[in-house]
Amino acid sequence: QLILDILEKHSSIKDTRQLTLPGQSSQAASQDEQIAILGALNSLLSREMITYETHETLSHALTEEGAQLSLTGSHEARVWAALPERGAGEPVAPQQLKTLVGDETAKVGQGRAFKAGWIAKEGGGLVKAVSEIKDTTQLELRDVDSTGTLEAGEKSLADLRKRKLITQRKGQWFTVHKGPGFSTSIAKPETDLTVEMLSSGSWKTSTFKKYNFEADGIPTNGGALHPLLKVRDEIRNIFLEMGFEEMPTDTFVESGFWCFDALFVPQQHPAREVQDTFYLSDPTTSLDPPKDYYERVSAVHSKGGYGSTGYRAPWSHEESRKLLLRTHTTASSASMLYKLAALCRGEKVSDDVLNSDIGGPAPTGDGSGDKGDGFRPAKLFSIDRVFRNETLDATHLAEFHQVEGVVADRNLTLADLIGFMRVFFKKMGLENLRFKPAYNPYTEPSLEIFAFHPDLNKWVEIGNSGMFRPEMLEPMGFPKDVRVHGWGIGLERPTMIRYGINNIRTLVGHKTSIDEIERYPAVRF
Ligand code: PHE
Repeated sequence: QLILDILEKHSSIKDTRQLTLPGQSSQAASQDEQIAILGALNSLLSREMITYETHETLSHALTEEGAQLSLTGSHEARVWAALPERGAGEPVAPQQLKTLVGDETAKVGQGRAFKAGWIAKEGGGLVKAVSEIKDTTQLELRDVDSTGTLEAGEKSLADLRKRKLITQRKGQWFTVHKGPGFSTSIAKPETDLTVEMLSSGSWKTSTFKKYNFEADGIPTNGGALHPLLKVRDEIRNIFLEMGFEEMPTDTFVESGFWCFDALFVPQQHPAREVQDTFYLSDPTTSLDPPKDYYERVSAVHSKGGYGSTGYRAPWSHEESRKLLLRTHTTASSASMLYKLAALCRGEKVSDDVLNSDIGGPAPTGDGSGDKGDGFRPAKLFSIDRVFRNETLDATHLAEFHQVEGVVADRNLTLADLIGFMRVFFKKMGLENLRFKPAYNPYTEPSLEIFAFHPDLNKWVEIGNSGMFRPEMLEPMGFPKDVRVHGWGIGLERPTMIRYGINNIRTLVGHKTSIDEIERYPAVRF
């Protein structure tokens, strides 16, 4: 209002530092007050009531010590004041001076007072050398305090700056003119055109607030997908694009039979021990699998068959029936493969997921066609949760997700597996792959997969793969020329790399920030 009133009278304000604001202490408006003035100017500008120009200044202000000395006098003046005149009293010993004026003043003040010729030594002590002094430092500080500068000029300013008594301050002041919408009263502008305004015609005389196209929108509240789900979606798309079908994986609880035995994992394998696998205490045992299949599996373990010697270790029905939290999604792959082999076993098949493949013609990898043995090729995948009795740390959780792909066809080779993985991982943005021979009880050969990660600039282990063993496939009923290869990768690792997360506990669990989850962008490989 003050600005508008002055403009009304004088039509412009040349220098806002000349304004006297209500409640203002000194004559001219200070730097802090210029900031308040700027706020008022901007609000008037947005209503087009004024225009203004900004001018930059460099000014000086007292430091805390400078402000102190402007009140008490400089260190040197205080030292001088504490001493007796020559001949008028006992000279003051340096140690005594400290108790009189304080350590800091005694230290700094003595040197400067000597240099100015204000004090002198007399018999091991100090006395005044002159009867009167002019405390230039104090006067200069007061000058800087009230004007922001010094008449004495830049040399003295530099000296005070060096003594850390003053600091330089950037400042602004403004020149103000009337704007096209000038008025002395600030009408609250309308923000909305209402029905009432239209029917009464008041819109014609109303002033409207200008749109601020720079303003941020109000953040919308809504649900957000967890990063793991976003990455899962992308990977699922890759599989679908390559003609894979998704396996049902709702069986978090599995039996030892499907999780291990069907996969030809020996019953004595360390992965089956409680340190690695969570077993259920209630109920503890599963229903029995199909009897004849169970017998073929137990036989291949304990006695061998299909050209294999087996493990020749005692077979435990109890071990096979134990209920557990599945340690890998390969348990689901095993039961799906068992279903896929149903036609080969001469059974009727009614499973929805496999019907499309099983019911259709039988395109084969090597063009050998349907041999009348009921086999239909399949490409299956799953992405779901698995559980392991792990020690938790920055990169390990006891529950995590596996991505798994399985391809069944006649006469597949290791080259097919490698070729498939190259295509698959290329779609994930990983072009540089290396394969290392590895061991899995259920695949032979087995390959660990390493990828060169362009963002991390190093090779990282991304997964595990292999050709399923005949000891697993043939008891299911697959013909001898059917090969099945599979590979598995984790879901958490690519997600963490993707979002630059290095502690898994910020991704999953109670330490996850909901806000972060809302802000994470979608994923496109
Ligand atoms: N089940 C393996 C794992 O948990 C992954 C895998 C799947 C390996 C299929 C070979 C074939 O690491």
